[in-house]
Parts: sequence; C-alpha cells; structure tokens
Amino acid sequence: MPAKDNILSLLAAQRGAWVSGESMGRDMKLSRAAIWKHVRKLRDEGHRIDSARKKGYRFEEAADLLSSAELSRALVATAIGRKIFSIPRTESTNKIAKELAADGAPDGTIVVAEEQTAGRGRRGRFWFSPVRLGIYCSFLLRPTLTPAQAPQLTLLAAVALAEAITDVTQLNVTIKWPNDIEADGRKIAGILTEISTGMDLIDYVVVGTGINVNIPRDAFPQEISERASSLLAETRRTYSRTSILQAYVERFDRNYRLLGVAGFAPILARWKELSSIIGKRVLIDAVSSTVEGTVKDIGADGVLLLEDAAGAMHRVFSGDISFLSGGEMINGAY
Ligand code: BTN
Repeated sequence: MPAKDNILSLLAAQRGAWVSGESMGRDMKLSRAAIWKHVRKLRDEGHRIDSARKKGYRFEEAADLLSSAELSRALVATAIGRKIFSIPRTESTNKIAKELAADGAPDGTIVVAEEQTAGRGRRGRFWFSPVRLGIYCSFLLRPTLTPAQAPQLTLLAAVALAEAITDVTQLNVTIKWPNDIEADGRKIAGILTEISTGMDLIDYVVVGTGINVNIPRDAFPQEISERASSLLAETRRTYSRTSILQAYVERFDRNYRLLGVAGFAPILARWKELSSIIGKRVLIDAVSSTVEGTVKDIGADGVLLLEDAAGAMHRVFSGDISFLSGGEMINGAY
C-alpha cells in the first residue's frame, strides 16, 4: 500500500484521537517531513485532518470521493454500473465513455470524474465542473432501440435524476424540457446524450449527467450565476455525492429495465408529471429557427408537440425553451 494510503488508514483507525507524526514516522520508516507531505496531499484530496504542534494529526472526516470501490459496493444489484471507471480528472466523462464504447465496453459501464477540465453541455456550451463539488458522470448504454427512439433515454434519465434528487434531499425539483433539472427556476443538473448509430439500431448511447451538488452559490462563474444553482445553495446543506449518484443509478437502472418490459409509456407519464409543461406558452430556440406556441403534448417518441398561433403543429426534437407569460419571456436557458 502506498505510504499516503497507509497514513490514511492509520489515522482513520484512530479517528478523533491525536497520533504523533513521530510515532507514524517510526512505524513507517519515514521522516516527519515526509509524513507532513503525505498529510498535505490527503487534505488536498478532501480528507479532513487536523494538525497541532506537539500533538500530531487527528483524522476528522473522510473525503466524499466517488471511488469505484465504494460505488460498486453500493450497486451490486444494478446492471448499470457493472463496470465503473472512476477518475480524478478528465476533459469530459462523455469523451472517455465514447472511447470506451469504441473499445467494446459493455452496456451499463459508468465513467465518473472528480473534476472535468472541458465539461460539455448541450449546444457546445461548457459545463462548470469544479473539483469534488459536483457529480460528473456518463453511462454507456447499448439498448435495442432505433435511433428515433433515443430521446426516450434522455427523458428516462431526467425522471430518474429528478426522483433521486428529491429522495435524497427532499427538494422539490421540476424537469424543464428536454432534460434540465430545476429548483425554484434555477438549473441544478443537466443531461447531455450522445448517440452513435448502426444500420437500423443504436450502436451505443452515452448519457452524460452533471449535478451541482456542494457548489456554493457565489462559486458559479458570473455568466451563469443568475440561472444556475446547486443542492447546497437551495437547501443550505452539503450532501454525500456517493449517496446521490447511487440513488440516481438505482432509479435509472429500474427505469431502463422498465423500458425493456413495458415500453416508454409509463416513463413518459412520469416525465409529464414532473415537468408540468403541457398547456404552457413557450418560445423554443431550436438550432436553426425559433418557434413560439403552446405545448400540446410530448409524443410517444419523446418529441415536443407545439401548436403555434396559426394552429399549425410543430414537432420539436431539441432546443432551448423559455416560458412566456403575457408575451413576456420569464426565463432563459443555460
Ligand atoms: C446541459 O444541460 O447542457 C448538459 C450538461 C451535461 C454535463 C455532463 S457532466 C458529465 C458529462 N460530461 C460532459 O462533458 N458533459 C456531461
């Protein structure tokens, strides 16, 4: 075991008690300066370790790390997460998941990172991914669905995510079409689905999810600070990211199985309950055009059905939605 991990287990075994650097150094044949260096690294990883002159070190609390060992222990019964890659830092977990897919990784593989240096959102936006404060994960799926059915997976993920967040935090959240999770009109999580298609069927889908968990309100970059929020900012509590990810994977896994046996209808029904979008007047900024009207329904394939002022129906696959009230736009997208 590396010296750093050895020090961690030694201190953790005596949680709350002072352990002198000298005695650890003796046991491990390391200098006191070397012990101090390792303790600093452990603190950088998020472990809370006190230090005091003449007393030594005292272990307070383990870091809330998204370790594959910890997650696998909690996810024995799920098909999602049979294989988990947990990495400290990457550009984007979706990018890694796609590389793994190309190498033949199986359905249900999860990639999770403590930090993303180039986290991506929809429409080429960036996803703020500060180290250890959020969840940045991607599920690699190989469903037997046609490419046209792929939006079902995004809606399925949004349902699982909204329910998991409410379960763990008791926070009232809503889904904003197609896949934003909001609390009190601010975005706390988002989903980016990427798809690779074969001849008739999907080859693989990567469902990437970012959840703003323990991000303080004033830590968001200025350009999104009005519209973004976190579980911490909404509830004034910090959360174990492991518990939230676990709850999300369990819900996702249940819905993914349900999709296989009962089809999309029950998931869509739940999505509608959580989104309360039907009947609302909206403006949708799709990639090449904008369209305004009233949301009539979400189609069986997950596509939004919008009626414009002239009574024409539009099928909208994706875009940024804003709610209209008496002709005024009341919120935008990020
Ligand atoms: C959005 O709402 O625009 C989608 C945000 C998706 C962010 C997640 S974080 C994990 C995964 N990796 C990425 O680069 N993006 C997704």
